[in-house]
Amino acid sequence: MENQNKRVCPVEHATSFDNFIRKFVHNPKKIFGNYVKEGMVVLDIGCGPGFFSVEIARMVGESGRVIAADLQEGMLEKVKNKIQGKDIEQRIELHKCGVNKIGI
Ligand SMILES: C[S@@+](CC[C@H](N)C(=O)[O-])C[C@H]1O[C@@H](n2cnc3c(N)ncnc32)[C@H](O)[C@@H]1O
Repeated sequence: MENQNKRVCPVEHATSFDNFIRKFVHNPKKIFGNYVKEGMVVLDIGCGPGFFSVEIARMVGESGRVIAADLQEGMLEKVKNKIQGKDIEQRIELHKCGVNKIGI
């Protein structure tokens, strides 16, 4: 039998926690606004489809950076597609983690 503790959230389920309704409950500005400032470098570990990474990239401004790290390539692809061609694209660095190693 598969060990349930080793499972991660499947990429196909990403929309269930990456949608505008979630912003009413987990508003990134309310959660991080007091901590994230312009020019900061922020590491978003387990970024998934980038629900927080994208908003944090706006908060850090042009001089800041977000390292969006996840162990699933499919999640990083979602972030990539979401930011492609946008002003925040240059501020977000995608990073593939190992299962037991962040690698940064
Ligand atoms: C439930 S999702 C949440 C995504 C995002 N943080 C959010 O709040 O919308 C958890 C994410 O963490 C990633 N993850 C799980 N274990 C990880 C690990 N050891 N290193 C990096 N990412 C991991 C999964 O691939 C998944 O994309």
